[in-house]
Amino acid sequence: MLRGNRELWLAFLAMVLITGLYGAVIAATREVPPASELFGHGIGIVGFIFMLMTETLYSLRKRSRTVRWGRMSTWLEFHIFTGIAGPYMVLLHTSWKFNGLAGVSTLFAIIIVVSGFVGRYIFTRIPRTLDGLEIEGTLSQEALKHARTLLALWHTVHIPIGMALFVSAFVHIGAALYYATLLK
Ligand code: HEM
Ligand code: HEM
Repeated sequence: MLRGNRELWLAFLAMVLITGLYGAVIAATREVPPASELFGHGIGIVGFIFMLMTETLYSLRKRSRTVRWGRMSTWLEFHIFTGIAGPYMVLLHTSWKFNGLAGVSTLFAIIIVVSGFVGRYIFTRIPRTLDGLEIEGTLSQEALKHARTLLALWHTVHIPIGMALFVSAFVHIGAALYYATLLK
């Protein structure tokens, strides 16, 4: 199970550090870092890699029957850490302009993070072993059944938003690299 809020504190710390770096770049260059120049571009790429890890690693560990590296709970903590820090970097990458498809991708990223917090709340209502397996047969059976149904319902929202996010992000990246980087 998820114990405490460790991953949320670490994500918050990462956001403070990234904001400090972002502020230092603004102080040095006297402009908001443009999305297509070194800092803005770099932070977009690193943030996107974090988001790709969020999308894939926890699911791979959850479904893998042969390789069982690390506890599921640790992978979920890592999922939440990269799922907050990654979109935050991507937000700073945008240079606060949200035109066209890239703007839509940003909106999906914000929605999935908010949805993640809702899922995290429901998830922590279901008692689990340290490795994340559900524990059956506890006192308030009905309430727990309800949390499971809610989590299943929540999956049907969180997962398609993730897919829409990556489809639109890949189109944006392809178009941005072609028009803003290669044709420059
Ligand atoms: C989920 C990931 C990403 C999101 C949500 C996102 C979003 C955005 C947004 C909102 C803008 C500003 C658009 C505007 O001018 O109105 C932008 C610009 C840009 N992005 Fe991204 N971005 C992401 C990842 C990336 C990655 C990984 C790259 C590069 C490999 C990239 C390359 C660029 C470039 C070059 C621009 C500047 C385009 C221009 O100056 O016309 N983006 N992005
Ligand atoms: C880039 C952002 C994110 C993406 C792309 C993403 C994607 C996903 C995907 C694909 C799953 C399904 C895993 C599976 O069952 O195989 C999932 C589950 C989950 N995510 Fe996220 N997520 C993101 C951010 C977050 C955040 C910020 C939180 C919490 C604050 C969060 C909490 C959860 C929880 C609790 C689950 C359910 C775990 C389970 O039922 O086993 N996610 N996410």
